[in-house]
Amino acid sequence: MRSLTRTLVFAMAAAMLLPLASLAEVPFPDIPKGKGDQCVAPTDVIRQTHMDLLVHKRDQTMHLGIRTKQYSLRECLNCHVQAKPDGTYPDIDSKEHFCNACHSYAAVKIDCFQCHVARPDDPK
Ligand code: HEC
Ligand code: HEC
Ligand code: HEC
Repeated sequence: MRSLTRTLVFAMAAAMLLPLASLAEVPFPDIPKGKGDQCVAPTDVIRQTHMDLLVHKRDQTMHLGIRTKQYSLRECLNCHVQAKPDGTYPDIDSKEHFCNACHSYAAVKIDCFQCHVARPDDPK
């Protein structure tokens, strides 16, 4: 009985420590490079404000019918999501997807791609 208790305690400790160990091994995100010379805002600005820009843009489109390219989610994907060597696009849940490279690292969850396509427009 004693040893069973001990086994359980060890199992619980291992279960608690394992996630920590794997967290320590998470490498810094490898962010895929965007197309062109520059983003729609300076890189340090877009890094910190893209969520606000996107949500503002969405509100403009949904409520005011403004459909310009500036801060459009489609345009983000057109520059930032590139096909892999096999011609398919990275899955939104994978670290290879631009939008998930940092989010998976920072444990940010977004629901945008339940509705929005996570691939760029077909270049054809
Ligand atoms: C015309 C192409 C283009 C468009 C459109 C574009 N970007 Fe960028 N973006 C770039 C480039 C080029 C960089 C800087 C180089 C790089 O990728 O590190 C960049 C950088 C970034 C970064 C910082 C990446 C890092 O390494 O820290 C984020 C975040 C980002 N863009 C998000 C967005 C979002 C969100 C949108 C849509 C609102 C968007 N971008 C639209 C080309 C684009
Ligand atoms: C329930 C479905 C749904 C979800 C979830 C959703 N959207 Fe949308 N979004 C839409 C629809 C529908 C439109 C309108 C498309 C149009 O009229 O052009 C839209 C439009 C937009 C637009 C303006 C058009 C464009 O491509 O730029 C942006 C920006 C946008 N959404 C960003 C977001 C972001 C960011 C999130 C996550 C925080 C998100 N959306 C989540 C359905 C959704
Ligand atoms: C350079 C790293 C980086 C990249 C690349 C990036 N994000 Fe983010 N994003 C973040 C961080 C960090 C947060 C959390 C910021 C906070 O909580 O203050 C965030 C938050 C968000 C949020 C708000 C989530 C919430 O619930 O508050 C949205 C929406 C979002 N990102 C959309 C995108 C989209 C769409 C892309 C791809 C076009 C993208 N992000 C690419 C780092 C990044």
